[in-house]
Amino acid sequence: MNSFSSVLLIEDNPGDARLVTEYLSERFGDDCRVHGARTLAAGLEALRHTPVDLVLLDLSLPDSTGLDTFYRVHAQAPRTPVVILTGDDDDEQASEALRVGAEDYLSKQHADGVALIRTMRHAVQRRRAAEALRHDEPAGDDPARLRTQLDEQVAERTAQLEAMNADLEAFNHSVAHDLRTPLNAILGFASILRQDAQGRLTAQHQQHLRFIEHSAQSMDGLIGGLLSLAKVARQDLVAQDLDLSAMAEAIVERLAHEQPQRQVAWRIEAGMHARGDPALTAIVLQNLLHNAWKYTAATAQAQIHFGLAPPPSPRNVYGVHDNGIGFDMASAGKLFMPFQRLPSAREFAGTGIGLATVRRIVERHGGRIWAESQPAVSTSFFFTLRP
Ligand SMILES: Nc1ncnc2c1ncn2[C@@H]1O[C@H](COP(=O)(O)OP(=O)(O)OP(=O)(O)O)[C@@H](O)[C@H]1O
Ligand SMILES: [Mg+2]
Repeated sequence: MNSFSSVLLIEDNPGDARLVTEYLSERFGDDCRVHGARTLAAGLEALRHTPVDLVLLDLSLPDSTGLDTFYRVHAQAPRTPVVILTGDDDDEQASEALRVGAEDYLSKQHADGVALIRTMRHAVQRRRAAEALRHDEPAGDDPARLRTQLDEQVAERTAQLEAMNADLEAFNHSVAHDLRTPLNAILGFASILRQDAQGRLTAQHQQHLRFIEHSAQSMDGLIGGLLSLAKVARQDLVAQDLDLSAMAEAIVERLAHEQPQRQVAWRIEAGMHARGDPALTAIVLQNLLHNAWKYTAATAQAQIHFGLAPPPSPRNVYGVHDNGIGFDMASAGKLFMPFQRLPSAREFAGTGIGLATVRRIVERHGGRIWAESQPAVSTSFFFTLRP
């Protein structure tokens, strides 16, 4: 018996789509219906109305690329097996997709009709077996089975959340871009007005113009923050061995060089190594150390320390400590939300996006971040990069 009778093929390349459709119709004739979609939006729309046995998915589509494509399909139809169709260079992404719930993947270059159909059949059978396990045979007291069920549920929820995040980030990104155009117009015309009307503006008019420019510039900073947050959330991770101590030294040396008037006693423990994405981890350290630097600006004998958290903390907990203004622990949860700045931070420059970015990066590494502070005494930001 055929394992599948209807398939959704989400593929923007007409040649590839035709080839797959031909394989399937040669093998199954009218027994297998192939629904085609050339964009992710069209694919999601089709999934909404037409239940299918399997989705064949190209990750690179005109309206979505990479793993986001999979997350969205998976969120829309979490029970439907998805086989990724990939160009050669997408192999790494495709195997990451397996980890988060795709059923299988096939390289377009090497897939012939036989391999394609075998992969599709296995994907459907595997998924049905897992579903049967889930529904027909309650886990009872079998801890292994219970664990599998829980793992599946967690994977499903994670995929849904990832998809929601991806949607929000895509939204962020496009809104931020769209906002920049009118904002540049405001700044541009304010500047023209200043030049053309020079000499005719009263002092008060000039001050109003400065307010317009200042507000537009701070909005530009917020938009920049939104864009960078969306970027770190979407950027692919490349894990490497990192010398956190050397990275932190370089960052603090740069801060000290930029503000030679500051007297800060800083100490970076030697020999701290971790696995992480170099560019993204640098953003984490940069933000935490920069905050420590900034929020000790009014402290008489400023001290900054970066090191491993002492026992009984596990070995992989890192801490950035300072003795600056600190904050009330009641506000600690807010700090990691975009654009949340505490009243005490008002006299220091900033947009409030740094820690939100840091949290996103740490979580993408599978780690955690939290803060402990006593106002005007000490502040510590602890993080891990792996569970
Ligand atoms: N080391 C610290 N000591 C005291 N308060 C801190 C510290 N780090 C962060 N905060 C508080 O958390 C808020 C959020 O920090 P975050 O780094 O996100 O934003 P920011 O520093 O205000 O601006 P930017 O986006 O430029 O980094 C800060 O506005 C400040 O109120
Ligand atoms: Mg900051």
